[in-house]
Amino acid sequence: MLEIKGSVGVITGGGGGIGLAIAKYWVQNGGKVVIADISEKLLTRAEAELKEMGGEVLSVPCNVTKEEDCARLADAAIETFGQINLVAPFAGIIRDGMMVSPDRESGKVTKKMSLGDFQMVIDINLTGVFLTIRECAERMINNNCRGLICLVSSTGSLGTAGQISYSSTKAAMSVIPKVLTAEFFRRGLADKIRCAAVAPGYVGTDMVKNMNQKALDRIISDIPIGRLVEPEEVAALVGDIYKNEAMAGDVYFIHGGLRLGSKG
Ligand SMILES: NC(=O)c1ccc[n+]([C@@H]2O[C@H](COP(=O)([O-])OP(=O)(O)OC[C@H]3O[C@@H](n4cnc5c(N)ncnc54)[C@H](O)[C@@H]3O)[C@@H](O)[C@H]2O)c1
Repeated sequence: MLEIKGSVGVITGGGGGIGLAIAKYWVQNGGKVVIADISEKLLTRAEAELKEMGGEVLSVPCNVTKEEDCARLADAAIETFGQINLVAPFAGIIRDGMMVSPDRESGKVTKKMSLGDFQMVIDINLTGVFLTIRECAERMINNNCRGLICLVSSTGSLGTAGQISYSSTKAAMSVIPKVLTAEFFRRGLADKIRCAAVAPGYVGTDMVKNMNQKALDRIISDIPIGRLVEPEEVAALVGDIYKNEAMAGDVYFIHGGLRLGSKG
């Protein structure tokens, strides 16, 4: 079992939502954190909150789609704390819409998802994760660090209408842990650096709470525990996977029993 106490977590999307919940969990358990986010306003607020809890915190403004930002983030973690033990690339966005929308009367397609909207989700949720974990993994290996790369997939990885871009990136998050575990195994590194993913259902962050209230009520009526998953519950799962070194190469769902098919 690994201990969080004294370990260093690098968390993108750390300015809010689930990323900030993980940072708080790490600090509460004696860990140090490097939080990164594109929003400097969120970062400043998050850093102040974490410091008030007594945490050792470094905040790094970072756009995860930029290679140089991700390299600077990983360098900053090593320069400040000397190691990286958890990498949680949680920066992510949603830009939902149907791929093609036929007009109800004419039956002809009157609207299509734009390439720009599609690409933006791929750039942040997939390329951004690749860059973050590549840069951090390089420094973990070169500095002889032990720990976990914990991706965030979603129940959306199973396929949700209106989410062709988001679902595709989240499906990728469920296969990357297998690819990296196999690669690290081949190189004799898999006992030191693990990769896994958590796959939440609907979590009570701004991403979900800002939804249309009627749609949200419908979603909640399909969740057997009768409520959204709390960000702190996802953070605790990340902590459990970090500590338990038998958990590697797989995706761990956390959705309150969400009914993914028909209500039946
Ligand atoms: N909320 C849910 O129900 C849910 C469910 C499953 C998976 N997830 C995933 O969890 C992760 C966090 O989601 P959340 O609900 O906390 O969302 P959130 O919107 O509260 O937080 C996302 C953070 O990412 C930051 N960000 C966006 N683009 C960025 C970029 N280019 N570079 C750096 N930072 C950037 C935002 O500023 C924000 O602080 C996402 O990957 C999301 O897809 C969320």
